[in-house]
Amino acid sequence: MGHSEETSEETEVKKMDILKDFQASFFSMSRLPSFPWTFLEKDLQSNKSSEFISDILKQTCLHSLCRKFPPSVRYRRLFLSELIRREAAGCDPLDELYDALAEVVGAEDTTECYKSYLLPCGDAVSLMENVALISEGTTGLVTWEAALYLAEWALDHQQVFTGRTVLELGSGVGLTGITVCRSCSPSRFVFSDCHPSVLQKLRANVQLNGLSEQATPAVRVEELDWTEVTEEQLKRIGADTVIAADVVYDPDIVGSLVKLLSKVLRCSPSPEVLICSTIRNPETYGGFKQQLGNAGISHHVISGPVSHVFPYNRLSSIEMIKLHT
Ligand SMILES: C[S@@+](CC[C@H](N)C(=O)[O-])C[C@H]1O[C@@H](n2cnc3c(N)ncnc32)[C@H](O)[C@@H]1O
Repeated sequence: MGHSEETSEETEVKKMDILKDFQASFFSMSRLPSFPWTFLEKDLQSNKSSEFISDILKQTCLHSLCRKFPPSVRYRRLFLSELIRREAAGCDPLDELYDALAEVVGAEDTTECYKSYLLPCGDAVSLMENVALISEGTTGLVTWEAALYLAEWALDHQQVFTGRTVLELGSGVGLTGITVCRSCSPSRFVFSDCHPSVLQKLRANVQLNGLSEQATPAVRVEELDWTEVTEEQLKRIGADTVIAADVVYDPDIVGSLVKLLSKVLRCSPSPEVLICSTIRNPETYGGFKQQLGNAGISHHVISGPVSHVFPYNRLSSIEMIKLHT
């Protein structure tokens, strides 16, 4: 047998991996072109059978998670249309595909949806998010790539969180924090943000994922505005670890973030502080680092996550830094 030929066992394993890719991408509402369509097209070409499409449907639109926490109507419609396009070119019509489409064709589009992020343990973090990236005047109602990157890093470095009190700044809808609470055994976790709609969604998502102040870890959601926070508030929280994802994006608020970080690092004992940023504008990010330096805060870059758990564009420029005084 030549190197390029796969055994049927290898093909089955590959198929299972591809099915998992479809599922993880579907539930997190990843961009449709990023799905492994080529594999499906090749399978249809060689088998002329709708079996693989049927398997994909079972792991996506027909999965119980989709009943409980459905991705947006528009997204499901577009996803099913992509499947139908491949099916029409490659095999006999599959009734369940058209039944699934009929369910979403008549349904009204909504501004909110659920996204689910599958953890290595098999559980999902399901979050209510807004469909639009920016809505109600905030960027905080969706999960950003830096949140996924930081969550993956946390899964690789659970000891940074285990048994500790963790404070998250600018938590948004809660992906990073909920992942840490689910997988890294902190003793307490304090989510925080300042925007009223974000705080409302964050509280709902924390509850949706079974986290509370009474459970372990003890979880709180606090209103914490970087421009107003006091050292007393920070001392009361008493964080051992402070994390933040995608909080460096607006040159107007970088100054207040740096002031807050100075206060955080003045706490005794000083916590471990990790800031994960998508570098969209190098000038804004460079300005942040310069302001850190001016405030007497040094930093070093931490190498990224090794495990690929969540689907996101790995070519994005994301950097995580650890701060020191
Ligand atoms: C780009 S979002 C990132 C959300 C989340 N960490 C993520 O990566 O998906 C920035 C977050 O910072 C919050 N934020 C902006 N300015 C803030 C301030 N002055 N105080 C507290 N939070 C702030 C916003 O409300 C928003 O939730």
